[in-house]
Amino acid sequence: MIYGNRVKGKVAIITGSALGIGQACAKLLAAEGAAVAVTDVNDEAGQCLVDEICEAGGTAGFWHLDVSNEREVTAVTQMVRTKFGPTTILVNNAGVGGTEKPTHEVTADEWDNLMAINAKGVFLCTKHVLPQMMSVKRGSIVNLSAIYGLVGASQMAPFRASKGAVQWLTKTDAITYARYGIRVNTIHPGFISTPMTENHLAARGDDSEDTKIAAQRLHPMGRMGDPEDVAFGVLYLASDESRFVSGAELVIDGGFSARLC
Ligand SMILES: NC(=O)c1ccc[n+]([C@@H]2O[C@H](COP(=O)([O-])OP(=O)(O)OC[C@H]3O[C@@H](n4cnc5c(N)ncnc54)[C@H](O)[C@@H]3O)[C@@H](O)[C@H]2O)c1
Repeated sequence: MIYGNRVKGKVAIITGSALGIGQACAKLLAAEGAAVAVTDVNDEAGQCLVDEICEAGGTAGFWHLDVSNEREVTAVTQMVRTKFGPTTILVNNAGVGGTEKPTHEVTADEWDNLMAINAKGVFLCTKHVLPQMMSVKRGSIVNLSAIYGLVGASQMAPFRASKGAVQWLTKTDAITYARYGIRVNTIHPGFISTPMTENHLAARGDDSEDTKIAAQRLHPMGRMGDPEDVAFGVLYLASDESRFVSGAELVIDGGFSARLC
């Protein structure tokens, strides 16, 4: 499935791209000409996606990568460079939802485990890809935050704190690395129909049709987003069409947060 050339010649690492939003990003960036490194802890689904992309005429490879493990991040970023050349697009997508509890019930381990993936993972992948981008004086880093990096809500404190951390790392790096031609932006999705959202609704002990309808109604557009709705935003920020966009917050939420701001 080849669409066009919007990111032709670029090399993209997408974390957590076996399923959900990351998977949609991998398919779209490959269809638009990028060589895509699909990375995830889910090896079977990741390899399956790479086979699908390659059969459709795209260029992709799979690497097992737990973003919270610096040794793996170091090795995979180097292996991708050896196979495809310097990485010029990094999509820090891997993330977990974590516990539903209020802050006073969250254990230190629950906090640490979530932060290790959602916040430290973004830092580690950014840290190890930046030298490659600096060496070619160009690059686009797209970090997946959430509308809860912008507005508050009750419960899920570790998740929401992690998305705030991602947002402020993004702005700091946007300023620091602009002189190297590197842009860094965040995307803030509303509820998107992915395994994470399914698990989140199920964890509330109620994944009935009524709960799904209630979640859809939070969005003025009357539905949850599809992974592709977010992938098109990632494509824009990854491409040269956004060449003067850095440190920005791209909200993709069907109007959810418009009524909260
Ligand atoms: N789905 C939503 O409604 C929503 C809303 C706002 C933000 N987001 C953010 O978008 C991103 C993607 O979410 P999603 O809904 O597609 O999630 P998902 O759970 O459907 O998919 C996440 C992927 O990340 C992988 N993963 C988990 N832990 C990992 C680790 N340690 N290292 C590498 N990969 C790991 C999983 O195997 C999976 O393939 C996340 O950062 C999430 O916080 C999602």
